[in-house]
Parts: sequence; C-alpha cells; structure tokens
Amino acid sequence: MTVLPQSMDALHRLSDAVDGFLRSEKEFNLGDPATQMLVGGRFRTLGTQIGAAALAGVPDEDIAAIVQPARSACARSPFMRSEQEWARGYPGDHQLVEHVMAQANGAAPGTLAWHVEASLQHSAITQQLRNRVMHQARLISDVLTAPRNGPHSVLLIASGAAPDLRLIPPGIVRPGDRFVLTDVDPDALSLAQKRLGLLNDFTTVVPGNVFRALGPLAELGPFDLVVVNGLYDYLNDRAAVRLTEAVLTRLCRPGSTFYFSCTAVGNPFRWPLEFLMEWSLIERDEAAVRALLPGRNVSVGADPTGLALLTHVRV
Ligand SMILES: C[S@@+](CC[C@H](N)C(=O)[O-])C[C@H]1O[C@@H](n2cnc3c(N)ncnc32)[C@H](O)[C@@H]1O
Repeated sequence: MTVLPQSMDALHRLSDAVDGFLRSEKEFNLGDPATQMLVGGRFRTLGTQIGAAALAGVPDEDIAAIVQPARSACARSPFMRSEQEWARGYPGDHQLVEHVMAQANGAAPGTLAWHVEASLQHSAITQQLRNRVMHQARLISDVLTAPRNGPHSVLLIASGAAPDLRLIPPGIVRPGDRFVLTDVDPDALSLAQKRLGLLNDFTTVVPGNVFRALGPLAELGPFDLVVVNGLYDYLNDRAAVRLTEAVLTRLCRPGSTFYFSCTAVGNPFRWPLEFLMEWSLIERDEAAVRALLPGRNVSVGADPTGLALLTHVRV
C-alpha cells in the first residue's frame, strides 16, 4: 500500500495532538477549574487533527487506532462515555439532553475528564442543543398565547423528557389545551411525567417508534404545532421524507406549524463526535432541508451557533 506524503504528515500531526492532549495531565494544574480552557484547547486541536487526517485520506481504522489512548482517557467523562457506549442503545438519548440542559459535570473534579467535560459544556456543540430546546419552548409558548377560537394542541415527537415543555409556565395553559408526547424510550416519557408538574394534567404520552405510532397519534390530532428535535439528525432522506409527509398530511391541522431541527453541514465537532465518541450525525444544508418539503411554505434559519438548522413549515 502506498502512503501519500500528506497522509504521513497528517498522521504525525495527529499523533502529536494525541500526545499533547494526554500530557495535559502532567503539564497543567488540574486542580484549577480555569485549566479547562487549556485542556479544551488541546481537545480542540485533537479534533482538528482528526479531521485533517480524515481529509488527507488516512483510513478511519488508522485514525481510530492512533486516537485510542485519548478516547480511553475521555471515557472517564460520563458525558463522553455515554456517547461511546450508548447505554440506552443509541446516541443522543434523553439523559444526555438532561445532562446538557443542566450544564452538569459528572467527572471527578481535578481530573482530565472533568476538564474535558467542562470544556464541552462550554462549547458550541452543547450550546446549540440548549438553543434548540429554548427555541422549542418559545414556539410552544407562542401557540398557547396566540389568539384562539378554542383550545390548542401540541405534539412533541421524539420528545425525550420534554425539556422544552417543562419550561412553559403553567399559567399560560388554558382549559382544554393538550400536549401529546411520543418517544420510543418509555423511560424518557416516565421522566417527563415526573418532571412536568402541573402540566401533567394536560399531557398524554404515546410510547413507541414514531413510524409505528402514527395511527394512535393521528387519533389524538390534528395539532396546532408539531415539534421534532433530535430525530432528523439520524434519519436518512428516505425516512425523513416519510416522516415529514406523514406529519404534514396526517398530524397537522390547516394553519398549523410543523417545526423540526437538524445539524447543519460543516459541523466542526463532527470529528471528535465520530472518533472520540461513537456519535454520527446526518448533516443537512438548507437545500437538503427544502428538498424534503416540495411546494411547502418553509422558512429555514440557524441557531446562534450556526450548528443547528431550524425549519418552520406553515401548513
Ligand atoms: C436527542 S433526544 C431529543 C429529545 C427532545 N426532543 C429535545 O428536544 O430535547 C432524541 C429522542 O429521540 C427518541 N427517538 C429516537 N428514535 C426515535 C423513533 N424512531 N421514534 C420515536 N422516538 C425516537 C429518543 O428516544 C430520544 O428520547
């Protein structure tokens, strides 16, 4: 096998970045919380060099072998370990969302893992997740406070533990308003019910894979707002078109809003997510999003980090 010179250079730089990251343990004062900036810098360099190696044509298995020691060190961060091991059988589960929303750090203070986790919690990749949830809460609130002829109904698909709905002040909910949560993970729905407080009285949960739950959901509709976050990132175009059409034709009321978010192309966190965790996201640009919605009244924006595309469809 011929190894191209640029691949050799990239391999050396990657190896140096792994060493530099691991040396943080000896070279920095890990007892000082501010050291997360230094560790974060070396973590970002590592991610950048992983990307450079991949783009220089270094095979994935070679990159994986070189970064293995760094990946093991990262596994001491509960955040990163959960995305390496998929405790619930898939990446990006509701527990991760809860952890990110709480800006928690589950690693032992004074360790390399603590600094990695702190630096992730201060980075754009977690901020975009919090931005998505805040945006969803605003959409729900807008629907509930809009002028009305009658009660309003909101469907959250792949709801997780409904961190968005939990941000809604119960005082804006009126008699007859209804929320429906659906998720493949029944534990996510149980946690939502535990944490929703007064909003539980207005909420129905439908456990199951959304593709099989469409019938029961349609019986509870039609809805004024349908929200999907954290699902399109894992759906190929065929599945995304299927879900989109079903939502628009079977679940949305005329005059309603269908909202979903996805990861924008050019995500700079792609490399650490894929090689230091086990977390692959399907990236889409605006054209790819619009291609899912031919002939529809669509607006596509980005969250403040630019990492998430926020799509609103007027039905
Ligand atoms: C990243 S969480 C997002 C939770 C919530 N929507 C939010 O905005 O924070 C993704 C959720 O999608 C759910 N999920 C994944 N595939 C699904 C499917 N095919 N049908 C229903 N839910 C699914 C997971 O169980 C998980 O709770």
